[in-house]
Amino acid sequence: MDRIAITGGAQLQGEIPISGAKNSAIKLMAASLLTEDALRLTNMPRLADTRFLGKLLQRLGTEVVEIEGEDGPETLLRTPEITSGFAPYELVRQMRASFNVLGPLLARTGQAKVSLPGGCTIGARPVDLHLKALEALGARIDLHEGYVYAQAPRGLKGARIDFPFNSVGATEHAMLAAVLADGETVITNAACEPELIDLADCLNAMGGKVSGAGSSTIRIQGVSRLHGATHAVMPDRIETGTYAVAAAMAGGEVRLTRTRSDFIQALIDKMVEAGVEVTPHNDGLTVRRNGALLKAVDIETGVYPGFATDLQAQFMALMTLADGESVIRETIFENRFMHAPEMSRLGADISVQGGEARVRGVASLNGAQVMATDLRASVGLVIAGLAARGETMVNRVYHLDRGFERLEEKLGACGALIRRIKGDGEGDED
Ligand code: UD1
Repeated sequence: MDRIAITGGAQLQGEIPISGAKNSAIKLMAASLLTEDALRLTNMPRLADTRFLGKLLQRLGTEVVEIEGEDGPETLLRTPEITSGFAPYELVRQMRASFNVLGPLLARTGQAKVSLPGGCTIGARPVDLHLKALEALGARIDLHEGYVYAQAPRGLKGARIDFPFNSVGATEHAMLAAVLADGETVITNAACEPELIDLADCLNAMGGKVSGAGSSTIRIQGVSRLHGATHAVMPDRIETGTYAVAAAMAGGEVRLTRTRSDFIQALIDKMVEAGVEVTPHNDGLTVRRNGALLKAVDIETGVYPGFATDLQAQFMALMTLADGESVIRETIFENRFMHAPEMSRLGADISVQGGEARVRGVASLNGAQVMATDLRASVGLVIAGLAARGETMVNRVYHLDRGFERLEEKLGACGALIRRIKGDGEGDED
C-alpha cells in the first residue's frame, strides 16, 4: 500500500490549478444513466472514486470513455440500454455515492437492486432519507440481505418530498429520480450546496426542468425523456479550501486557479481572522502568510454556506500551531475527529469530547508515522506534515487517492518536499 512522506518546513510558492469537483462529478456520472444519448463531462477529475463509479456504470450498461480534451480531462458516458439493474456489494461498498445509481435506474427502467453502501468510516451515515424520497415518488422498496430492491412498474410519480433535515446525497438522489417522474415534484428543506446547482444545471442541459437548486425549495417538472449534453464539472471547493489551508500552514504565497473563492467564504473568513492574507480574484484566490503567528479561532461545521465539514480536519491542522486555544465543533457527522489522535502523534495538543475538539496551539510539530482514516482526515495529516519538523509518513493513502488528484505533484510544484512511496508489501501496515 502506498505511503506519502513529507519533510516539513518548506514554504510554498507558486500556482495550483484546482480540478473538477469529486462530489459533483460522481453524481453527474450517475445522471448519464437517465438517457440513451451521450453525456460529455468536461473538467473531470481523475480519481479513484470516479474510476470506481465508471466500473459500476459499465456493469449497468454504460460505455465510459476517458479522453484528454482541449481544456483537460473529459469523460463520455453513453447508456443505449440498461443491461443490468443490479449494483453489487463489491462495487457499492467501495464508495457510498455509488448508491445514487438507484434513483436513475428506477426512473429509467422501473426496477433496481442496489447494495446498501459502505464509504468513509465517519459515523453511521444511513440512507433512510434517500429511500423515503424514492418511496414518496411511488417506488416500492424492500430491504433484504443488505440489498435494496426497488420497483416502480408504472413509473415514478411527482410528489412533495419534505426532508426533516438537510442531506446533500438524499436531495441529489431525489432530483435524479424525479426528473423523469410523471408530474411535478417539490422538495422542501433541500440541501443548498453548490453541487446541487451543478447537478440541476446538467439535468437542465439534458432537457430536464429543475428550478430552485441552491435554495431550500427545489421544483422539478418531470419530463418523459432526457437527451445528451455537454457539461463542465464545477471546481472542487474542498480541494480549493485544502490547498488554501496548506499554504497558510506552510507559509509562502500560493495562487489557486480555475476555481471560485465564494464557494469557501466561511473558511476564508476564519483564515483571515486567524491572520492569513487571502485575496480573491476572478479565477480563484491567493493565500499568503509570511511567518506571522496564527491566532486561534473557533469554528463550527454546518451546511452550506456554513463551514464545510470536509474542511474541518485541515483547519484543525492549522490550529495546532496557532497562538491560544481553538474550539472546533462538528455538527454534521459523528465520529469525525479520527485525525485528532493522529495529529497528537505529531505533537499537537488536542482533546476531544463528543462533537467538540479543543486544540491548544503548540510551538512546533514533529514528524512521525501517522495513519489516514478517511478521505478528509488524511489530507489534514498531510497539511500538518507540511509544517512539522523532520519527516511525517502518512500511511494508508488510498483514502487520499479517492478524492485528491495528483496531490504530491500539485504541492511539490510549489516547493513542498513530498513524495509517494509505492507499496511493495514490505513494511506496509496492511
Ligand atoms: C456529502 C458529501 C460529503 C460531505 C457531506 C456533507 C458526497 C459524495 N459526499 O455526503 O463529502 O461531507 O455531503 O456536506 O457528495 N443522513 C441521514 N440519513 C440519510 C442521509 C444522511 O441521517 O438518508 C445524515 C448523515 O448521517 C449526516 C447528515 O445526514 O449526519 C448529512 O449527510 P449528507 O448531507 O447526506 O452527506 P452525504 O451526501 O453522505
